[in-house]
This record gives sequence, structure tokens and C-alpha cells, in this order.
Amino acid sequence: MSDAPHAIVTGGAGFVGSHLVDSLLEDGFEVTSLDNFGSGRSANLEHIDTPRFESLEHDVREPFPDLGRVDYVFHFASRASPKDFESHAVEIALTNSEGTHNALEFARKNDARTVLASTSEVYGDPEVHPQHEEYNGNVNVRGPRAPYDESKRFSEALARAFQQQYDIDIRTVRIFNTYGPRMRPDDGRVIPNFLSQALRDDDLTIYGDGTQTRSFCYVSDLVSGIRSFADADPSVAAGEVINLGSTHEIEIRELAEVITEVLDTRSGTVHRESPEDDPQLRRPDLERAQSLLGWEPMVGLEDGIERTAEYFAEELESE
Ligand SMILES: NC(=O)c1ccc[n+]([C@@H]2O[C@H](COP(=O)([O-])OP(=O)(O)OC[C@H]3O[C@@H](n4cnc5c(N)ncnc54)[C@H](O)[C@@H]3O)[C@@H](O)[C@H]2O)c1
Repeated sequence: MSDAPHAIVTGGAGFVGSHLVDSLLEDGFEVTSLDNFGSGRSANLEHIDTPRFESLEHDVREPFPDLGRVDYVFHFASRASPKDFESHAVEIALTNSEGTHNALEFARKNDARTVLASTSEVYGDPEVHPQHEEYNGNVNVRGPRAPYDESKRFSEALARAFQQQYDIDIRTVRIFNTYGPRMRPDDGRVIPNFLSQALRDDDLTIYGDGTQTRSFCYVSDLVSGIRSFADADPSVAAGEVINLGSTHEIEIRELAEVITEVLDTRSGTVHRESPEDDPQLRRPDLERAQSLLGWEPMVGLEDGIERTAEYFAEELESE
């Protein structure tokens, strides 16, 4: 192994993980991806052509293999699509509990700086808006989203316990809705749904009346935030939790309009019943990320949608 820093990315074959892998490789890291290819795809890593990268098939619910010297652990493995919250409920709950335990033990053994991927879902259906990091959330422990939401909350609590008991450097990112190339067209999240439908001139399916809001962050912005958080000095960042996302909040029915305009499609909209516990409002308070990292998202929604649509058009063509 060279002198370059060695980073482990769990979930490296997934949407966010594969972009993170690219960014680390661009900056000269050695990178090992651990992924069980449940929702990730080897195609997301096919373009990589450097001996500094290795992709291993590994389920994080199993103890991690010995990977030599390790400097960073980015723990991003977990299905994240609401479509999977019920069909893969136990797998998700265990990935974010046993899987996180294995990742943290591995980080402890290697004395590696760790970034844990958490989610805005820890705020549930929030009663505080926008959501800042001190808000404790409003999660239905018995609802259909609970296997994901509650196991991510447990992941955070376990990280905090490791930080306290073993004094290792763990940083937690609460990621708000992020989109971009390499999302799966059938992923079930709203932007892949709308884009797949718009590209086929099908009507866009809106759940509920469409007045529920989300704030969408383009993936390159998210990755730059994750990287600067990982690089930040331990005196300000060790043990911290920050929100990362976009503050540009729009209603889902407005998003449908943006997508039909950008794609110039003949699609209309159809409404279906809203799923149980669907959060009504979502917008991060980014003050902490801004003051700690000087970070803010740069890519506008129309621009990001155009770039993502190009990728989806190619994906749908090759089907
Ligand atoms: N994309 C978003 O908007 C968003 C929002 C909040 C949080 N997150 C978090 O970011 C991370 C990545 O999400 P994503 O959107 O890229 O989803 P994704 O499904 O594209 O990626 C998840 C990756 O983890 C892998 N994985 C799942 N369970 C595993 C296991 N038990 N062992 C090994 N690998 C496993 C999958 O195969 C996949 O490659 C997740 O932790 C997710 O909770 C994402």
C-alpha cells in the first residue's frame, strides 16, 4: 500500500457512495468499497480505472475483513428508498444497527476518522421548520418508515456512544433529499419517478395533493459538503452532527412543473393517495454547516434536473 490516505466507503456502489468514491480518487486517496450490491450497481463503478481502487462484495451486517491500514471510514451502506422500507424492513433495520456496529468497531480497531451517513428522516414528520440539528424529531416508532428512521436514529446514538466511550473521531451527516445521475430509474424516490415518467411522456404521479415540500440537493454539492466535513479540523468537527442539503424548498406539485418544463414533455399529472407518515415539510437549517465549513450548495434545481435527465435518458434507452 502507498502513502496515500486509505478510505473505506461502505455502500460505495450506490448512488451517493459512488460519487464519493470518485471524489476521493480524484484527490489521490486509495479507496476500498464494501457493498452487498443490494440496491447498488457495479455499473456505478465501471468507469474507474486505477489500481488505487478496490471494490469488494461484503455485507456490513458481517464483521469487516482486515483491509490493512485504514485512515477514513465513510459508512454509507443502507437502502434509502421508501419503496424498500417495508419490503426490506428487517435488512434495513439490521444494516443500520448491526452494520453500523461493525463499521464502528472496524473504525475503532484502525483508529480511523469516521463519517456516518444519517438522514433528515431522523426528524420524522417535523413539527419544527426548518429542521436544525438540536430538534429531536417526530418519528412514529410503529409506522411503515420506522425500520429506516429508527435504525438511523440508533446508528447516531451508537456513534455517539462510541465517541464517548472510546474517544474516537466520528462525524455524522444528516443528508436531506439528494438527487443526480446514478439514481436508479425504478428507485421509487420522487425525482427518479418523475423523470422516468416525463421521459416516456407518461403522467407524473403525485402522492397526496402535492403541497408537501422537499428541498433537493444535487449530488456534487452533497459530496463536497461531506468531503469538507471529513477534512475539517477535529477540534471543531469530531463528534459533531450537521445537516447537509439544499434550502431551496418547493412543493412536490411545483417540482412536477419544473420537470415538465425542463424536459418539454407532454406529461400531465395524476394524484394517488399519500403514503402513511409522509413528511409534510422538509428543509434543512444549514447554519451549522455554513459556519463550520463555509459550505453551501451551488447547483440550481433546473441545472441539476437537466444533468440528471441526461443520465436517465441514456439509462432508459439501454433498457
Ligand atoms: N440520497 C438521499 O437523498 C439520501 C438522503 C438521506 C440519507 N441518505 C443516506 O446516504 C446513504 C446512501 O444512500 P443512496 O441514496 O446512495 O442509496 P443507494 O441505495 O443508492 O446506496 C446504498 C448502498 O448501500 C448498499 N448496501 C445496502 N445495505 C447494505 C449492506 N447490508 N451491506 C453492504 N452494502 C449495503 C447498497 O447496495 C447500495 O450500494 C444511505 O446511508 C442513506 O441512508 C441518502
